[in-house]
Amino acid sequence: MPSVDAAMGTPTRVVESDPQPKTMNSSRCELSRVVWRADQNMFGSGRGTLLLELVDDVAWATAARHANGHAVTVTVEHMIFKNPTWAGDVVTAFAQVEGTGRTSMDIGVYVTAQRGASERVPVAEAHLVFVAVDSEGNPRTVPGVYPETEAEYAAARAVEIRREHRKTLRGALEQAR
Ligand SMILES: CC(C)(COP(=O)(O)OP(=O)(O)OC[C@H]1O[C@@H](n2cnc3c(N)ncnc32)[C@H](O)[C@@H]1OP(=O)(O)O)[C@@H](O)C(=O)NCCC(=O)NCCS
Repeated sequence: MPSVDAAMGTPTRVVESDPQPKTMNSSRCELSRVVWRADQNMFGSGRGTLLLELVDDVAWATAARHANGHAVTVTVEHMIFKNPTWAGDVVTAFAQVEGTGRTSMDIGVYVTAQRGASERVPVAEAHLVFVAVDSEGNPRTVPGVYPETEAEYAAARAVEIRREHRKTLRGALEQAR
């Protein structure tokens, strides 16, 4: 089956998984949009849902590129809003696969806002888990990912902490039932 750039291809089309691990850099994606007046909440700043949609879209593009085909969101695990956005801002979300399991991918998304010619301001950060699926919607294996730079090693270590935390939380919640 021919390879496809999943971010550009049909979402339901699945190509053979590449068994070779990939670099963190290889499936990075960036997505931008303008905050319009229509995106404001009643207090004048940009609605949070605007960023949530941007985050999920860019995370999907990254997951699909890494997994050589369609992937679905399992959890938006952590979303931090660091600064408000305002009409006229250009918001840019940058996503990368920071860790993998057998079929799942931990995606980190970092969002900045640019106001005119000013410096980019960090506005949000999110951590999501996607699962690669076949054409029937069943989980399928994904290539591993490996870091190359100091910052990427730090992101990979943070994923290990998140995975441990997830396990502990799941256990504690089961005990509380
Ligand atoms: C994602 C989905 C295919 C998983 O199916 P499943 O039968 O639960 O699959 P599994 O139990 O084998 O889990 C698959 C992977 O997801 C991970 N996973 C499942 N639930 C999770 C959770 N709450 N948090 C983090 N990871 C989770 C598992 O750890 C496993 O990872 P691994 O293979 O790397 O070890 C299924 O739950 C689904 O289709 N969900 C709906 C997705 C959706 O519609 N998203 C919104 C629109 S894109």
